[in-house]
Amino acid sequence: MTYLWLKAGHIIFVIFWMAGLFMLPRYFVYHQEAEPGSPEEAKWVDREKKLLKIILLPSIIIVWVLGLLLAQTLNLWSEGWLHAKIAFVLLLSAYHGYLAGYHKKLARGERTLTGKQLRLFNEVPGIAAAIIVILVVVRPF
Ligand code: HEM
Repeated sequence: MTYLWLKAGHIIFVIFWMAGLFMLPRYFVYHQEAEPGSPEEAKWVDREKKLLKIILLPSIIIVWVLGLLLAQTLNLWSEGWLHAKIAFVLLLSAYHGYLAGYHKKLARGERTLTGKQLRLFNEVPGIAAAIIVILVVVRPF
């Protein structure tokens, strides 16, 4: 019973986390289309900050806590697929950190990435999520 509630919570917050990771680079694209220093730009800075604080930060914490609790409850620590899964989740967490850093840069008025690069960024969470789900469901090793 505990296991099922932990897993339900884990999956719910994985969805919120992924949704936020897909939205943020999109916001950056719209942000960079706004005139530097304009009220429109200030609105995007505020929207990005809210997405990071209200959705992304709580979600990453809950996904990690519930994921680690699940691994502990089922005693899966010696499973190869779990090690690989954690490696990919670390990659996704680093990507999250990178986006948070880019938001700060944008807020300071530094635009170092092009719209095309930002659109390409959206491939990262998609590919990582597909690999993670295959690892946890198929358990290939
Ligand atoms: C470090 C963070 C994470 C850890 C330690 C972790 C660990 C786990 C564990 C132990 C399970 C239970 C497996 C079972 O029922 O036998 C699970 C389920 C699941 N996890 Fe994670 N997870 C993490 C992050 C993620 C992320 C980022 C995603 C997706 C992008 C994800 C997707 C899933 C899915 C879809 C399930 C359900 C699988 C099933 O019911 O067969 N997890 N996770």
